[in-house]
Amino acid sequence: MNLIKLGDSRELLKEVEDNIVQTIYFDPPFNSDRNYYLTPDNKIGFKDKFEDDESYIGLVEPMLVECKRILKPDGNLFFHISAKDSLIPMMLCEKHFSNTQLIFWKRSRSKNNVKSKLGACMDIIIKCSNSKKPKFNPVYQKLDDYYSKNSYKNKDDRGNYALGHIVYTKTQKTKNKERLYSLDHNGITYEPENGWRMSKQDLEDLIKEDRIHFPTKEGANPYKKIYKHESKGKPATDLWDDVHSISMGAEKREWPTQKPVKLLERIIEMSSDEGDIILDPVAGGGTTGLAAKNLNRQYILFDINPDAIELCNKKLRR
Ligand SMILES: C[S@@+](CC[C@H](N)C(=O)[O-])C[C@H]1O[C@@H](n2cnc3c(N)ncnc32)[C@H](O)[C@@H]1O
Repeated sequence: MNLIKLGDSRELLKEVEDNIVQTIYFDPPFNSDRNYYLTPDNKIGFKDKFEDDESYIGLVEPMLVECKRILKPDGNLFFHISAKDSLIPMMLCEKHFSNTQLIFWKRSRSKNNVKSKLGACMDIIIKCSNSKKPKFNPVYQKLDDYYSKNSYKNKDDRGNYALGHIVYTKTQKTKNKERLYSLDHNGITYEPENGWRMSKQDLEDLIKEDRIHFPTKEGANPYKKIYKHESKGKPATDLWDDVHSISMGAEKREWPTQKPVKLLERIIEMSSDEGDIILDPVAGGGTTGLAAKNLNRQYILFDINPDAIELCNKKLRR
């Protein structure tokens, strides 16, 4: 099901069935008291001026309520907002969702043209869900110098490696009895009291391949070798400083507040699987649709602006 529709999302969302959407990306007007146009001469864009905070809440809260209804139980909603305008969105997300996490997107480098205040370079993406275990697929960021230097200190014939935990700590303690086994290696018996994170067979296979690091200190635990040259990067943190805004990249700007496809791909990859439905109730230039299409997900896009809908259709038919 791929759908692109023109209209007010406070109404359109009511037409969507309960519990069918895996991921919602919500990047509404920010209440920034500005108008956004593509260029001073090209009036494609939208007004971001509201009489007061109540009228802003009157736009976004009804959409959030409907979004909550149509999300699958393990679904996620991502509310995108500038750091400066984040107070009301944060309060609304806390009101309607039981689980929230802030993602800090450093959208630009420092600005040297701002002289009278601190340059704003941060947007906040509030990840919201109503499940204790929302769908989550690990995503990775490029290894930074600090991480590279400090994590991959060990070396063998294959190359530098970091140490990955293979035993549980006291707080994680497994209830699976099959993970409470002992391992004899070079005359030493390892029997972690809280259990192993892998089966005995998997552990023995890794030992055969020389992918287990045995400690030199008595009483210490073995670790899995995680080789630098095989690494996908570092597991992503809540600081995303590796995705640049449209103005700094190669993507063509076709909508004034267009977000980079890479940002949407990370969000979608992290929170959904192939075939899942991704919805954007304020789609603008259709970035969410494009990222969903690239990743073999289905998409539903709504926007109140006919120019935006025309752009979405054009972009997704290319
Ligand atoms: C910040 S832009 C979205 C930009 C988009 N994420 C992109 O990458 O191009 C906000 C969008 O909200 C739309 N919008 C505002 N009020 C709306 C409403 N009541 N229903 C649907 N869309 C609305 C505007 O037309 C605008 O395209």
